[in-house]
Amino acid sequence: MSMLRTCHLLVLMLCVSAIEDFDWTKNDHGSFYYGVFPTGFSWGAGGSAYQTEGAWNVDGKGMSIWDAFAHKKGKIFLNDTGDFSCEGYHKVKDDISLMKDMNLKHYRFSISWPRILPTGIKNENINEKGIRYYDDLINKLLENKITPIVTLYHWDLPQILEEKYRGWQNASMVNLFNDFANLCFERFGNRVRHWITFNNPWSIAVEGYETGEHAPGLKLRGVGAYKAAHHIIKAHAKVWHTYDTQWRNKQKGLVGISLSGDWGEPVDISNQRDIEAAERYVQFYMGWFATPLFNGDYPQVMKDYIGRKSAQQGLGASRLPVFTAQEKSYIRGTCDFLGIGHFTTRYITQKNYPSGRGNSYFTDRDLAELVDPRWPDPGSEWLYSVPWGFRRLLNFVKKQYGNPMIYVTENGVSEKMMCTDLCDDWRMQYFKDYINEMLKAIKDGVNIKAYTAWSLLDKFEWDEGYSERFGLYYVDFRDKNKPRYPKASVQYYKSIISSNGFPNQRELESWKGKAIETCSSSNQLLAAGKSNTSHYSEELGGAKTKTNCYFIQSLTGILFVLPLQLEDCPRKIRNLQES
Ligand code: NOJ
Repeated sequence: MSMLRTCHLLVLMLCVSAIEDFDWTKNDHGSFYYGVFPTGFSWGAGGSAYQTEGAWNVDGKGMSIWDAFAHKKGKIFLNDTGDFSCEGYHKVKDDISLMKDMNLKHYRFSISWPRILPTGIKNENINEKGIRYYDDLINKLLENKITPIVTLYHWDLPQILEEKYRGWQNASMVNLFNDFANLCFERFGNRVRHWITFNNPWSIAVEGYETGEHAPGLKLRGVGAYKAAHHIIKAHAKVWHTYDTQWRNKQKGLVGISLSGDWGEPVDISNQRDIEAAERYVQFYMGWFATPLFNGDYPQVMKDYIGRKSAQQGLGASRLPVFTAQEKSYIRGTCDFLGIGHFTTRYITQKNYPSGRGNSYFTDRDLAELVDPRWPDPGSEWLYSVPWGFRRLLNFVKKQYGNPMIYVTENGVSEKMMCTDLCDDWRMQYFKDYINEMLKAIKDGVNIKAYTAWSLLDKFEWDEGYSERFGLYYVDFRDKNKPRYPKASVQYYKSIISSNGFPNQRELESWKGKAIETCSSSNQLLAAGKSNTSHYSEELGGAKTKTNCYFIQSLTGILFVLPLQLEDCPRKIRNLQES
């Protein structure tokens, strides 16, 4: 692997630039760019309903597919659920004061469909208590001059729609989702100007209907993901048109989508097959959704590959569904802004998968994903810190889709230990480097308007339960009150926000010291079980446990949790370089 990497670097350095404004052959991975963001650039943080709200069966909320999935044994790490999570439902005031303290300009959250429509269907039952919760959240954000960026679907489909229709496998979802979205425009649209239809449809389709790691847990390999995506794309377009024809004049808002995408870099940049494989990786990922919305149809390479493999399997039609001419023109141009959730990068090389041996989204791509062992990987297994990949992805989007307006809707890094050291130097480094690459992309001419740190709080991390913490704020999940404690990265992000970027080296050097000072005292508060961020602690009357630190170990494949004292917490091996 490292020989491949060396070869890659050499070729990159030797190649002569030829392409337009962004030089794809240039490697200035190590360099840091001092400068500030355009005036009005919006800094924010985010979360989503199922991951943070808790209150899963409170005030008339219906069940979502995630409630049902998490309640089944063996689906979620340690069989945890989002039943209580951060108790965000009861802590609106607390959480907004955290945002205010950071000087956030926007907060990204999602509306739980079954919280406001318990049966999923608008004509059946509107849960006014659920509406009131989001009303209150939106009003309080606005009172504090924080712009709400609202996602309509962050994975929590009403369970009843899964049972009745098989969820996104069924075309009826298009109209039902449109009804739900329309209700949200009607009730909240006088105050919300930024709507995101779907969050990360790639995950909904692939993890929900192909691998089954996520709700609803179906393993319809090689077929289910494509079908789900097809209906999601149509549902997005329908909602965009509804807004455009019924609400835009009055409400003057924007409707976009949030796509996730890792960057794929060819292992060997002089090898045409690797170059094409890397392009395929990105097209099968972000392009799967972005190309229809911007150009009206699936990427040609997806149509070719899936079509060819389907024919080889003796199928009468491609497993990739087809849009009619009318649908293509209806779908094209339905994105007022493109939300991007980005976390990591892969090296890609060509690898053939003969079609005889079963089919899947993954084998359809004919490629292999690799990582450089030197890339820092402080948290989730899949998440390597590769900041330069972010700039490349942003430039790719600019080039492919006609320089759309971009909102970065998710970017951040986790830590794997439940025993959290609030002095999260690796997260500060990650934010610094990724945000710096985003600044370089703006210099390249990419039209980026906003950045959303993911996430405001530690929260339920889907099938990983609470074992992966992405928060700027640590949440003590063992405490019924779910108190929040600032990690050092809160202070660091605050410094970036207040300078609107990276003014100069001297200033930056002082940021880290300041951040470390604050986290040392927060560490002590955590050890003593005292949060100074929760106003509701006594009201909820939670019990404290003595142990402050848990560490998940993997030994001979068995995962278990050891209680430790905070001082004993093993530090993760980090190879992040100080700059
Ligand atoms: C993308 C998802 O949208 C989000 O919910 C999740 O927390 C992050 N990935 C990190 O895994």
